[in-house]
Amino acid sequence: MTRIPWKCPNCGDGMTAYLAEKPYVLRCARGHSFDIAKQGYVNLLLPQKRGSTPPGDDANMVRARTAFLDGGYYKAFSDGVNRLVADALRENASAPCVIADAGCGEGYYTHNLVSYLREGGTDAVCAGFDLSKDAVSHGAKRAKASGNAESLSFAVASLFEMPLADGSCDGIINLFAPTADDEFARILKPDGFLVLAVPAERHLWGLKCAVYDTPYENEVRRDVLPHFTLKEVRQIRETVTVCGNDHIKALFAMTPYFWKTSVSDRQKLDTLEQLTTEIAFDLLLYGKN
Ligand SMILES: C[S@@+](CC[C@H](N)C(=O)[O-])C[C@H]1O[C@@H](n2cnc3c(N)ncnc32)[C@H](O)[C@@H]1O
Ligand SMILES: [Zn+2]
Repeated sequence: MTRIPWKCPNCGDGMTAYLAEKPYVLRCARGHSFDIAKQGYVNLLLPQKRGSTPPGDDANMVRARTAFLDGGYYKAFSDGVNRLVADALRENASAPCVIADAGCGEGYYTHNLVSYLREGGTDAVCAGFDLSKDAVSHGAKRAKASGNAESLSFAVASLFEMPLADGSCDGIINLFAPTADDEFARILKPDGFLVLAVPAERHLWGLKCAVYDTPYENEVRRDVLPHFTLKEVRQIRETVTVCGNDHIKALFAMTPYFWKTSVSDRQKLDTLEQLTTEIAFDLLLYGKN
């Protein structure tokens, strides 16, 4: 918490972490104060904004997502994110590097990234933001348990209004979450970068074949972001075998087409204990204009 360039969501001033007395707080010079929960995260979504934003994943959804991700099926993708961020940092490093994870979910990728950078000797701090309190709470607990809490902080906040100072970040990762061109440009340093992940045509083809009579390939997103220039695309392609019905269903629940699928199609997964499928992601590296 101490090394993140926090911005007060009330007045926009900088905030300092006070960790000498409980409750731990983040506070700005004007006295706006935010308690740090015992799990280690801070809720920076102002009460007047809470009603107008969706709550995000609940505890059960977070648990299912964590169980799937901890199964290691997306490790190749996580490794790809780590390598791309490390390479981008090498080009314009200024220690300590500050990375934001916009829409971090339960923090699987953020956590792996911080561990990877630390093992590589890079002095980096990372802050994950998500609307789901249960998701960031999980991320913060894991950071504490693994000894990463010094370098990894989590807050409930909208990625369209991140509680970070202008021009304070070296990089942003934005994985399968909404993209906020203006806000990303605001928090990045002039030579900052953005890593965006998009599913490629054949992502989860095996899963689609198990559910649909006539599966379609994904349309591939290539966002044109007015404040950014696309610099590099890295492809992650793998075949994985997902074991156990819980993991298969958790994977399906993570897909955007889960809610659009009929009950009868969904039920086709009920008796499946093993599923082999392609995973196919494109990692897009953008530089700030
Ligand atoms: C598909 S999940 C991806 C989570 C994580 N990046 C991962 O790949 O595991 C999308 C996430 O975006 C979050 N989200 C959606 N809209 C958001 C917003 N306006 N601000 C912050 N988070 C948001 C959701 O709560 C959810 O956790
Ligand atoms: Zn303030």
